Amino acid sequence: MKNLYLCGFMGAGKTTLSRLAAARLGTRALDTDDLVIQRCGMEIPAIFAEYGEPYFRQQETAALRETARFSGAVIATGGGLVLNPDNVAVIRELGTLLYLDTPFALCYQRIRGDRNRPNAASRTQEELLELYRQREAAYRAACDAVIPCGDDPDSAVEAILRFCDGK
Ligand code: S3P
Repeated sequence: MKNLYLCGFMGAGKTTLSRLAAARLGTRALDTDDLVIQRCGMEIPAIFAEYGEPYFRQQETAALRETARFSGAVIATGGGLVLNPDNVAVIRELGTLLYLDTPFALCYQRIRGDRNRPNAASRTQEELLELYRQREAAYRAACDAVIPCGDDPDSAVEAILRFCDGK
């Protein structure tokens, strides 16, 4: 059985919705950020600070490839993962990709000043909005379907489950 991958901006709700959807589907939830942390034995800000973002991206691709050993899992991807076309190709082989389309204002509320997210902590609101706009096109181009998300996780989970039922 194929995996279900969730992509979207930082704060879009990928981790929360992966857990809720996995619970409803009776399967396991995974998170590529957690897999990177396990691989490196370090938190993400420390990886960025000590080795830089390119190293983090290598580890992230390796973590994504690791998900091949799971079947039917719901997997939250880090907000930058699908910007790499090679990663999108891996996801195509291993499963289906949903884009969590969450308004910027909501993402921003969740990520502002979050020291655990180096790519958010280092940017102003205007810079984050710019990044959101740049990335949105890549998320839409990469995904198999768009899930509109507001601040009610239950309706987003229902939309994910409807997508799964339709497959
Ligand atoms: C990143 C998003 C983070 C994490 C890393 C880089 C990004 O994941 O992978 O801090 O560049 O968007 P979340 O989307 O879960 O915050």
